[in-house]
Amino acid sequence: MRIAMIGTGYVGLVSGTCFSEFGHDVICVDKDHSKIDALRQGEIPIFEPGLKTLVRKNVDAGRLTFGTDLGAAVRSADAVFIGVGTPSRRGDGQADLTFVFEAAREIAAAIEGYTVVVTKSTVPVGTGRQVQDLIASLCDRDMFDVVSNPEFLREGAAIEDFMRPDRVVVGTSSEKARQVMEAIYRPLSLIQTPILFTSLESSELTKYAGNAFLATKITFINEIANLCEKVGADVHDVARGIGLDGRIGPKFLHPGPGFGGSCFPKDTRALLETSRMVETPLRIVDAVIDINENRKLEMAEKVIAACGGDVDGKKIAVLGLTFKPNTDDMRESPSLDILPKLQAHGARIHAYDPEGMKEAALLLTDINFCDNAYQTLDNADALVIITEWNEFRALDLDRVKQSMKTPVMVDLRNVYEPDLMVERGFSYTCIGRPV
Ligand code: UGA
Repeated sequence: MRIAMIGTGYVGLVSGTCFSEFGHDVICVDKDHSKIDALRQGEIPIFEPGLKTLVRKNVDAGRLTFGTDLGAAVRSADAVFIGVGTPSRRGDGQADLTFVFEAAREIAAAIEGYTVVVTKSTVPVGTGRQVQDLIASLCDRDMFDVVSNPEFLREGAAIEDFMRPDRVVVGTSSEKARQVMEAIYRPLSLIQTPILFTSLESSELTKYAGNAFLATKITFINEIANLCEKVGADVHDVARGIGLDGRIGPKFLHPGPGFGGSCFPKDTRALLETSRMVETPLRIVDAVIDINENRKLEMAEKVIAACGGDVDGKKIAVLGLTFKPNTDDMRESPSLDILPKLQAHGARIHAYDPEGMKEAALLLTDINFCDNAYQTLDNADALVIITEWNEFRALDLDRVKQSMKTPVMVDLRNVYEPDLMVERGFSYTCIGRPV
């Protein structure tokens, strides 16, 4: 199959590269010439484990190329994937589809033979149909079909998620398009991956419903963690206890400072907006968004309480800034709420993150960025772990304690065991576990 991928952001680049790994002929297109030049030199604009190697391998094999000419890429493709950004629109929280429609118009102008146009970006229910109408207004209807094929990639594990997904969802009512999609995903059918064919609308809604459900699961365990703190229960035991029920499942029950990232916050807001538009309230999703926003700020209060109710003039060492480990992505990271609130209470922040500091420097002010974890600790009044990078799981605790002015640790990811921390002489605060 010959595939054109429009957009070399996170979704486009990972998906395009993995399709070439399947053996397809892929061209990734972007308007940004400097980005394409960099990709041609083997420079990857995002941090994603394994991606650089996979890009190089497929470029060397001649299956993966990069370009800026959308028309040429579309003309020689069996399927064109739209993988452009759909940021939250200011004001109403709905996904901004400007780039999707712009791409659709350009695709329509270039189509010469039958082409399957696939929306890979996360788009609200009804967008596929709008893209179809838009293209049909500019080119012959039997020259194309529009398909919805949402991605379920987690940052930091995207290659694995693409190559070994739980399922693939394809929304189309066209038999011809279905055959093209079956051919594209044949390598996954061969390893028994369920390929679920649905209508355009069902496929689009599946993406949002999936993310909203996962966000709800996290928010639920976060609230249970709050309750655990009050009644002396251990949230890890409770999560394991309920997670072993096959109907609930063990994943996404890890409590923390609230979910962040480029997907859950944006997608829950967009889903809520869709529900408002059709006057069908999604009260659970509404509550999840509200609880999660508050939670991030409550985490700052937790730190202040651990510091004896006052952080004015105190030095707080912060480990981890990104919304989760193995990414340099700072979008909607809890640190963006927690740190300004601590600063507003007079705290001085010394922070370290293995990949996120460059991005963090653009979004946070007055942070002293350090070269490693230990550098943040010198004479610190408290240590706060916001992101559970592996390198923070095995800190030299004696060294940590000796470096600090007072051994106060606030572990917002439950990386350490409360008993051990008390034994090692720390004043330890975590999430939902008795200390
Ligand atoms: C999420 C979904 O997991 C993917 O399936 C989906 O494709 C993607 O959004 C998307 O829509 O593109 P991602 O945002 O990369 O992926 O990250 P997750 O691993 O899902 O984590 C999201 C947030 O939830 C993070 O802040 C993480 O720390 C938090 N989280 C996750 C918890 O607090 N507890 C958990 O048990 C799991």
